[in-house]
Amino acid sequence: MTSDCELTKAVEDALNAPSVRNTQPWKWRIRPDEVELHADEDRYLDITDPDRRDLVLSCGAALHHLQAALAARGRGVRVRRLPDPENRNHLATVTVEDDAQPDLIAASLYPAITSRHTDRRRMSHRPVPRELLQSLQKHARRAGAELVLTDPGVREKLMMALSEATELQYQEPGYAAELRIWTHRLPGSHDGVPATSVPPRPIGATKATGLSHFGRPALAQPPLPPGRSPDDDAADFLVLATPGDDVLDQLKAGEAASAVLLEATRIGLATTPLSQALEIAASRHHLQTDVLGIPEHPQLVIRVGWPAAGSADLPMTPRRPLRSVVLPS
Ligand SMILES: Cc1cc2nc3c(=O)[nH]c(=O)nc-3n(C[C@H](O)[C@H](O)[C@H](O)COP(=O)(O)O)c2cc1C
Repeated sequence: MTSDCELTKAVEDALNAPSVRNTQPWKWRIRPDEVELHADEDRYLDITDPDRRDLVLSCGAALHHLQAALAARGRGVRVRRLPDPENRNHLATVTVEDDAQPDLIAASLYPAITSRHTDRRRMSHRPVPRELLQSLQKHARRAGAELVLTDPGVREKLMMALSEATELQYQEPGYAAELRIWTHRLPGSHDGVPATSVPPRPIGATKATGLSHFGRPALAQPPLPPGRSPDDDAADFLVLATPGDDVLDQLKAGEAASAVLLEATRIGLATTPLSQALEIAASRHHLQTDVLGIPEHPQLVIRVGWPAAGSADLPMTPRRPLRSVVLPS
């Protein structure tokens, strides 16, 4: 029998998961030996995320955080995804089983939960060694997704695709207003992207204009070393992709995103999840067929690189308290 307190603490750890615009679109029900994860439809971005893809990905990331938190407490679990065909918001039930072994790989990622942050600043000119990218691929695969590496030619096309997708999104009535709502929260808010997480010229030196209206920038870019230009940013752009594109694939893509982000953090890399090129069907199709040329369905772009020298520590982004996200048991 697991103590209620242990499950509650593990859920609290899971609340640190990344989520689109920091909407934290989840609800939890904590029962003896069991935690249910539900999507919170009130927090879904209906113009930015018409397919609920980002919502499910965000919940998938929280689901993986929960598994890491329970594994770190020595608990083996059984995870049932989409257990109730009558309730599309019931995304998973995680049951602690006394005779199940804890997942040691998930446990090894647990300490990174509190040090992972989305870093939108310029990254170092030092490239990330291929072996490290391949280790991220293994983590993604374990969670049921492929992590597609991109070479410089593809990367340039990917940046173009990100910019074009952003332009298309701005043409959507209500998009700019929805973005503003989640990037201009009042001080002391428990959600949304704070200005202290947004640097001027986000995503560093690249030509992408994708995040230029993400909020009032209040995060300094790292100093440029002598002889370097802002374009010397060696961050890699990786794409998480799944064999299909149903809700189960999206949930697993979210779990894989969490595994990749936590492993990258564990080895000292900075990370930025980027969903803009995936939110509109036409942009997603363009990315899949013209840019990447893959049969799998792209779900999320993840930018990874070494933090640039002199990068200050990133502030914590806010989170809703447990009492706001727990359903009656
Ligand atoms: C599915 C998903 C999509 C996201 N899309 C973007 C994005 O397009 N641009 C961006 O700057 N951050 C994006 N993020 C990062 C969130 O804004 C970030 O997780 C949230 O603000 C909480 O901050 P933290 O990651 O530092 O904890 C995304 C995160 C998730 C999980």
